[in-house]
Amino acid sequence: MTTAIPTHRDIDLSDKNFWAKSPEERDAAFAVLRRENPVPWSRPADSDLLPPEQNTKGFWSLTKYEDIRFASRHPEIFSSAQGITMEDFPPEMIHIAQSFIAMDAPRHTQLRGITQDAFKPRNMRRLQSWVQGHARDLVSEMAHLGEGDFVELVSVQLPGRIFGSFFGLPPGEIHDKTINAAQRLLGWTDPQVRGDQTALELFAGAVMDLHETAGLLIPERRANPGDDLLTWMVQAEFDGKKMTDDELKGFFVLLAVAANDTTRHASAHAIHTFSKFPQQRELLVADVPGRVDSAVEEVLRWSSVLAHMRRTATQDVTVRGSEIKAGDKVVLWYMSANRDEEIFDDPFTFDITRNPNPHLAFGGGGPHFCLGAALARTMLRSLLTEVYTRIPDIHAPDPNFQVANFINGINNLPATWTPEQS
Ligand code: HEM
Repeated sequence: MTTAIPTHRDIDLSDKNFWAKSPEERDAAFAVLRRENPVPWSRPADSDLLPPEQNTKGFWSLTKYEDIRFASRHPEIFSSAQGITMEDFPPEMIHIAQSFIAMDAPRHTQLRGITQDAFKPRNMRRLQSWVQGHARDLVSEMAHLGEGDFVELVSVQLPGRIFGSFFGLPPGEIHDKTINAAQRLLGWTDPQVRGDQTALELFAGAVMDLHETAGLLIPERRANPGDDLLTWMVQAEFDGKKMTDDELKGFFVLLAVAANDTTRHASAHAIHTFSKFPQQRELLVADVPGRVDSAVEEVLRWSSVLAHMRRTATQDVTVRGSEIKAGDKVVLWYMSANRDEEIFDDPFTFDITRNPNPHLAFGGGGPHFCLGAALARTMLRSLLTEVYTRIPDIHAPDPNFQVANFINGINNLPATWTPEQS
């Protein structure tokens, strides 16, 4: 029996079911779009967040690498201020949950500027040995077990512990509630993450939990400054003014989510992908210090954990013949850019020696480029080093993928390995 080859007309990025397909099927669909219709128009995305009468806007998609780089670097044409996901959010949610990622200059520049110091390479180097310590501890806690869910044992824990220290979260209930909210917030489309809650209940509940933590910590850090990111944020000034409490809370939500959910899923993808391509795992294991950096880059390209960001056109603009009008939504598909045949040789091959590897996993450059890229790289490098040095035969072929169009996530990853002898 032959299977019909899909054409671009068969591909519906707005359909929830599209996002329940396997990564291979989705990659194949984006390849068709790149080839046949690289800037398609889609009907309004199936939305769990907005009632149908409010969910009325369709969107354009950019699927080619160069178009995504161009849009990322021209915020005067492609604005972030009206929202950053293909699904629309209730406007009040954008304000309280997305902070400067959903702003344009000059406000974006000012707020982002406040955090720059914390994320400088110099600070990242200072953090490095401490991140390595957390990675070592976590692998020590699980290495003797021989089997378990890698997501539960490691992926969820590592960014949680790092983030907790970075923000000076007190250990215990507040820490656990905060990390849990940060890691659930982007899972609103996934039935397993949602459980009995509606998408809006999940999203709003997680935002409220994070606001509550920020509301407790902000006055505390004003009174007792520490050496942590929250203290710097509370103290920072621009134009002679400090951030209001509401701005600080929105900022806290953005960083909590941006830091936790992404690295968590990237680490799970890494272990799964090396199980799927054992020759690449052997290559890494044969020389972990020599190959881990390029392996991290290839994992980032391959997994494209942040599948898209959205912009809104500020003026009429034509891209590859598609006439985008001022006010139209435009979605930048990093997951497609990272398989673009015009940029990557053999894009569907996972190759940890790939060089150069100019992936767009952290965005296409421009003012919104990922603020935490250096920290994310450090976390992944430390974790892969520990895992493939100490339990190199770890095998995890059957992930339970999240159903989501924004985060390319893994809910569970059953794994087995030869237990480490103490
Ligand atoms: C594998 C891990 C990560 C991936 C794949 C990732 C990816 C991205 C992407 C694609 C963007 C949007 C870029 C754009 O719109 O041009 C972004 C923005 C951002 N990321 Fe990350 N990220 C990761 C980890 C982190 C970490 C660890 C942090 C913080 C500690 C972080 C903080 C941020 C922030 C604050 C922004 C918004 C920047 C702005 O709007 O100016 N990210 N990230």
